[in-house]
Amino acid sequence: MRETHDPDAVLATMNGALVIVTTASNGQRAGCVVGFHVQCSIEPIRYAVWLSKANHTYRVALFATHMAVHAVSSEHRALVELFGGTSGDTTDKFAACEWSPGTGGVPLLAECPTVMLLARHTAWDDGGDHVCFVGTPIATGSGGRIEPVRLADVADLVDAGHDARERPVPDLTAS
Ligand SMILES: Cc1cc2nc3c(=O)[nH]c(=O)nc-3n(C[C@H](O)[C@H](O)[C@H](O)COP(=O)(O)O)c2cc1C
Repeated sequence: MRETHDPDAVLATMNGALVIVTTASNGQRAGCVVGFHVQCSIEPIRYAVWLSKANHTYRVALFATHMAVHAVSSEHRALVELFGGTSGDTTDKFAACEWSPGTGGVPLLAECPTVMLLARHTAWDDGGDHVCFVGTPIATGSGGRIEPVRLADVADLVDAGHDARERPVPDLTAS
């Protein structure tokens, strides 16, 4: 192995697929584009997504019972811009797209029929800027085979709604 230290270059080569993760809790809906996600057990089947501590979706997911993982293809570019480039802190994303409520109130995006509904059971914070949420797939929808949108497809197009280093500061004086 020729030694270098450039993890970004290796990760760029992997060029992971993007998904849109949605969730709901305490009467709030949330969702964002996620590049950090993977199946993490076969039997029982488990799926993991990592959410940034900066994101509105993370705060809603902390109290959620369910999450939905939607596959996205190039035809979903507008949705990727909406869910990856704006934040639920300032934009009502669900007023700008079609959806219906699934189990646990989780918004299911009408444009993305290839979807996995997860019953969320654990969250793992290893001190990084993202937290791992693990769930069991309990229902799926299939829109047939799709060619996923990948990191490199949107790298120059979508600026994340939140930088991963941001931390919201709660207003403790609010009654
Ligand atoms: C290509 C790309 C990949 C992203 N991957 C993740 C991710 O894995 N986890 C995450 O929490 N946010 C990820 N984001 C950032 C969120 O999608 C983005 O900050 C979003 O605006 C957050 O919305 P929210 O505040 O409503 O949750 C990604 C954004 C882009 C453009």
